[in-house]
Amino acid sequence: MSKNRIPFGLMLHGPGGHMNAWKHPAGPADASVNFQFLLEQTLKAEAAGIAAFAFVADGLYINEQSIPHFLNRFEPIALLSALAATTSTIGLVGTLSTSYSDPFTVARQFGSIDLISNGRAGWNAVTSPLEGSARNYGRVQHPDHALRYEIAGEHIEIVKGLWDSWDDDAFLRDRNTGRFADFAKLHRLNFKGKFHSAEGPLNIQRSPQGQTVLFQAGGSVAGIDLAGLHADAVFAASGSIEENRVLTQKLKQSAVAHGRGADALKVFPGIGVIVGSTEEEAERKYQEIAGLVNINEALAYLGRYFDHHDFSQYELDAPFPELGTIGRENFQSGTDKIKARAKELGQSLRDVALEQTTPRSEFHGTPQHIADRIEAWVDSGAADGFVLGFPVSAAGWADFEEHVLPVLEQRGRHVREQVGTTLRDHLGLPFRESRYALPAEKAAG
Ligand SMILES: Cc1cc2nc3c(=O)[nH]c(=O)nc-3n(C[C@H](O)[C@H](O)[C@H](O)COP(=O)(O)O)c2cc1C
Repeated sequence: MSKNRIPFGLMLHGPGGHMNAWKHPAGPADASVNFQFLLEQTLKAEAAGIAAFAFVADGLYINEQSIPHFLNRFEPIALLSALAATTSTIGLVGTLSTSYSDPFTVARQFGSIDLISNGRAGWNAVTSPLEGSARNYGRVQHPDHALRYEIAGEHIEIVKGLWDSWDDDAFLRDRNTGRFADFAKLHRLNFKGKFHSAEGPLNIQRSPQGQTVLFQAGGSVAGIDLAGLHADAVFAASGSIEENRVLTQKLKQSAVAHGRGADALKVFPGIGVIVGSTEEEAERKYQEIAGLVNINEALAYLGRYFDHHDFSQYELDAPFPELGTIGRENFQSGTDKIKARAKELGQSLRDVALEQTTPRSEFHGTPQHIADRIEAWVDSGAADGFVLGFPVSAAGWADFEEHVLPVLEQRGRHVREQVGTTLRDHLGLPFRESRYALPAEKAAG
């Protein structure tokens, strides 16, 4: 990857990042389960050299208060499998929970997608914030925030271990000698943990990129520690440039504290971009999108971050309510931020709910303004790249491609040709060597 190129990912979230994007006429109302639409978005991103990846988020619990996109959407592994077979160069990143999955199965699933796609797979490991997930998996109790991260650490350790079950050249398939595999190049993990155990070996070879790229999403202290230990990339919630600079610094410090290089961990804030030919046009588009939501819907949207807390019980125009620890066991990094911001700015509940559904962003404005902000974030160490999450997918992506990418191209920050063939190539990450190929002192992690 050339030094100046900025990698982007494209959020595949059906009609868009705004909760009521499905109402916007720019795209199909059933975009969340419209494979043709999702494929077209991905192919356009691929053709424009949005080299890094298409990104699929996920959740494991819904109710009547969930946003429309969450009510009816594709399971990420199934969607990525279909995209792996119908795309050729774009990276494919999908979310899968460490709290509600088995490491052996996860290692096989991503190992398979990685092979089907010739080394373009990424796993976004999340811990699942919602208590109701437990009831969908027959569990008595949803693990608390700290326990979820403990489970995640062990889970990921096993998956990574299983991915090294076979050396890169273990499968001989030699018809002359009749040797299919060299069993000297097979490694049993024999992992016995507190939450999961796996003997191994895994029944699939290593990936063309060594190992599937590991993304992590979760910005609490525990999340940052997990990312520093294991992740190749972080999908970060974006705030201001300053907030993200601090977060990026903490993440890189965490990688260094775990004996890795700061550059081994790439940070990708998710940004909601709105492009206008003038600032006024961008503002008009913002207002149009903000107008898609009413206050009751906004309260339900806000409530989900707090494990579907019922905000309709509070006075709308009074100061944001004191919530104590509500939300801390769920989206901890997100709910802490919402509470602190409300206090700092003296926001009412109405302000907070409306702001959450249609946040203002530094990335709203003219193509030049957006390109300036993108460059400023990367050059000041607030990001290594971005996940583009347009409030309305169809309109947002078309505007970005037509107006912002050419500006970035002119400035040498975007190149339409893909870099290399694997997702690691696209992100500037080296091939991940097997732990068994490394000198003994480096073999851990
Ligand atoms: C930017 C970002 C994206 C996330 N995406 C998902 C997701 O797609 N699915 C999911 O179940 N959880 C997702 N999470 C939730 C985390 O996995 C985690 O459960 C929650 O944020 C609490 O961890 P934290 O306090 O470390 O942020 C996301 C969190 C962040 C910050």
